[in-house]
Amino acid sequence: MAEFRFDIKPLFPLEIIKVTSNLLPHTFRGDRRQCLDATSKMSEVIDRLGQLSAVSQGLNKPVTTAQRLRMSENQTIYLLSDTSYGANGVVMGLLKVGTKDLYLFDEQGRTRKVEQTPSILDFYIHESRQRGGLGKHLFEYMLTDQNWTPVKCSIDRPSEKLLNFFKKHYGLVRTIPQANNFVLYEGFFDEEASMG
Ligand code: ACO
Repeated sequence: MAEFRFDIKPLFPLEIIKVTSNLLPHTFRGDRRQCLDATSKMSEVIDRLGQLSAVSQGLNKPVTTAQRLRMSENQTIYLLSDTSYGANGVVMGLLKVGTKDLYLFDEQGRTRKVEQTPSILDFYIHESRQRGGLGKHLFEYMLTDQNWTPVKCSIDRPSEKLLNFFKKHYGLVRTIPQANNFVLYEGFFDEEASMG
């Protein structure tokens, strides 16, 4: 698990916290000095988890870094912690999501521009805790928080593990072929179709 030289508890008053471009936990309250301290520690947490995710997926550079989150306009990272582990607690997982304007093929092969498409951008649970339900726990928290449903999500370059995850937990298997790196499942366009 990801351990740090500092105590993570002040950053994680809740098991799951979310972070946007200000690099602060959504729960953060504090003065300027505390803010600088929290941002610098949070950057370290995000960089470490982003690095572990990249290694786990066999990527040569991370999809997620604190610097990229700082520059983003509509991305959110959810971080899952276990503050009772060891002296400083540990961070066990990361889920980065955002919205993207994408050109997508629908089920009939027509091109559609879909604005603000919900997108799963990076997802990682520490190796020592995979396949124990933590991924589902973190993902469900995100779905509720964003008010998204799995079939309406686009997934950026999913790994085999993530494709299995969608199959197991949400029964999603059949994809709509795309020209880009995003995977969509059948049903993605259903609401628009029924509205004519
Ligand atoms: N092999 C095949 N399927 C797997 C594996 C694996 N090693 N690990 C998880 N899964 C799938 C299976 O469907 C599994 O169910 P099963 O054990 O009954 O076969 C299910 O996920 C388990 O669900 P959870 O326990 O809730 O998921 P977990 O805590 O393992 O988190 C995650 C899922 C995030 C994909 C995790 O396995 C992981 O970090 N994998 C490595 C990194 C990765 O591939 N991330 C996705 C990259 S793509 C992207 O982010 C857009």
